[in-house]
Amino acid sequence: TMQQISTIAEMRVHIKEARRLGKTIGIVPTMGFLHQGHLSLVKAAREKCDLVVMSIFVNPLQFGPNEDFERYPRDIEHDRQMAQSAGVDLLFTPEVSEMYPKPILTNISVSNVTEQLCGKSRPGHFDGVATVVTKLFQIVQPDFAFFGQKDAQQVAVVTQMTYDLSMPVQIVPCPIVREEDGLAMSSRNVYLTAEQRKEALVLSQSLKQAKSWIEEGVALSEIRERIIHMIDAMPLASIDYVELLRYPDLTPVEQRTPGESIIIALAVRFGHTRLIDNLITNF
Ligand code: PAJ
Repeated sequence: TMQQISTIAEMRVHIKEARRLGKTIGIVPTMGFLHQGHLSLVKAAREKCDLVVMSIFVNPLQFGPNEDFERYPRDIEHDRQMAQSAGVDLLFTPEVSEMYPKPILTNISVSNVTEQLCGKSRPGHFDGVATVVTKLFQIVQPDFAFFGQKDAQQVAVVTQMTYDLSMPVQIVPCPIVREEDGLAMSSRNVYLTAEQRKEALVLSQSLKQAKSWIEEGVALSEIRERIIHMIDAMPLASIDYVELLRYPDLTPVEQRTPGESIIIALAVRFGHTRLIDNLITNF
């Protein structure tokens, strides 16, 4: 049965014992309000690791001053049940006062891959992510860490960071989990009104279209224009960005190079709610 742990000291005791027994450790870092997207990461971890740790921590460092840290959805009781049935062994739920008892003076900052997409619209966001993920890795000492491609830039940042700093952990990217109608699952989907929820389908639908346009050989700049046009047709939607970049380095793609991966990444606002989605594809 699952154990819930809220202090770093207690987590270290469990990790030390698991290491002594030679268990491989996997971590699934989350901010809670769990859905099937999160649980797909647990499933992947379960298949690869002897001990599966999930963290639930709404990390204040990665929220901007005008973002939704205070009102980020939380339901720890429901999360606990979902984590338990998905097969989590240790659920790490520290308070902010446990993770940051005093102002933190250390910052992990990854360059280049943080300079486009969400990094541009959310200054400091990926420093906050890189810093908390590093801290979680220090506490849990995982062999594997599972991240969703829903946040493809986050995967690029964390992979680069672990490589650059020789962190002894392997980052495992996992596919995007969608609702039946195509909307990428997100804890923030609960913010959407019924009308916004309908219009939000334009994200996954435009990506689906884009995939076939790529196969037909439509120019990338033209694909971008067409996606913008589709989203602009939705009265409640306002575009944050629509970008086609090389993946995972997130540099511009002027022309198609066979064998290379590109990402089509979207961020669209519905009222105060910002949704992201992406498609990674080969030429
Ligand atoms: P959170 O948004 O809770 O997401 C936790 C993990 O679940 C991330 O790796 C994210 O990519 C993955 N995920 C979310 N929705 C998904 C979906 N529809 N399909 C597949 N995977 C999905 O991302 C964070 O938290 C934080 O930045 C964190 C890494 C925990 C650092 O604070």
